[in-house]
Amino acid sequence: MSGIFKADRYNIERGGAVINGGGLVAFPTETVYGLGANVYDRHAVASIFEVKGRPSFNPLISHISIPEMLGDYAAADSRAEFLAKKFWPGPLTFVLPRVDDEPALDLVCAGLSTITVRCPDHPVALALINAAGVPIAAPSANRSQSISPTTAEAVFESLGDSVDMILDGGPCAVGVESTILDLTTTKPVLLRAGGITREQLEEALNEPVYISDGNPDKPTSPGQLLKHYAPSKKFRINVTEPAEDELFIAFGAGYDNAPMNLSPTGNLREAAANLFAFMREADKNPHYAKMAMAPIPNEGVGLAINDRIRRASR
Ligand code: TXA
Ligand code: MG
Repeated sequence: MSGIFKADRYNIERGGAVINGGGLVAFPTETVYGLGANVYDRHAVASIFEVKGRPSFNPLISHISIPEMLGDYAAADSRAEFLAKKFWPGPLTFVLPRVDDEPALDLVCAGLSTITVRCPDHPVALALINAAGVPIAAPSANRSQSISPTTAEAVFESLGDSVDMILDGGPCAVGVESTILDLTTTKPVLLRAGGITREQLEEALNEPVYISDGNPDKPTSPGQLLKHYAPSKKFRINVTEPAEDELFIAFGAGYDNAPMNLSPTGNLREAAANLFAFMREADKNPHYAKMAMAPIPNEGVGLAINDRIRRASR
């Protein structure tokens, strides 16, 4: 079995059975599509790495459907519990000390003594986890080094028949991956900017949230290598005057002639939701050899956008 299936109740049940049988199911979350397997099935988890072509040292996020179950897998301190209450289900992922020593989880945790957990805000994702009856390990459902998929079609383009089932729940609302917050230290550290902003976290915690230094040689978050997102075309950012051979992706007002605009009204959330789809389209467009993007304000979810496009640019 493979291909795209409408995410109705029947197919979600089948998806749960596929996961239990050791298969891979791609499914929608509010951020991007995930490529899911049973966290306790190391063969299935290994096939995630294989299908993605992802380096094996890169740990995966364990997705749960019941926020209160966080403590079953991770040593959740009061900060984690407070933030989970406030933002879950939602685009926020915690890195915490691992409590479940079950060796089957080693691959999901990439051998680390930490575990990475989130409760996604999407009815299909939650129903699939419930149908499977186990947490679901899921990286973004794309080949390693390419753009995260925000539609079922994009998953199929990237992974094709190597996935047993792709559940189609329409386009993802948030459009960039979840925020990853490291709570294994006394000071909270933002490992990846995402759907929940640093400002929101600082306000909730009433303390500063630090940003990992982003050194690509010694990444705190192993997946945060500088070249994580890479279109095949040469891609410039912070561009105000595109060259003739560059497909220009604008942002905000005053770009009436631009072939693409992430948000003509300058709305960063809208831009985030469009980002990967537009980059994918621009990369495929046969009329331009290169691509370029307008400056994006570095505030709110703009931080996540700039993080992604900086990694993608060259
Ligand atoms: O929005 C999302 O988070 C999506 C959806 C499917 O939930 N998932 C996602 O997973 O983006 P992935 O694997 O593509 O990105 C997770 C990132 C990777 O860069 C990984 O290195 C980092 O999280 N990560 C996972 N566990 C970690 C850990 N224990 N310590 C440090 N970094 C970790
Ligand atoms: Mg990814």
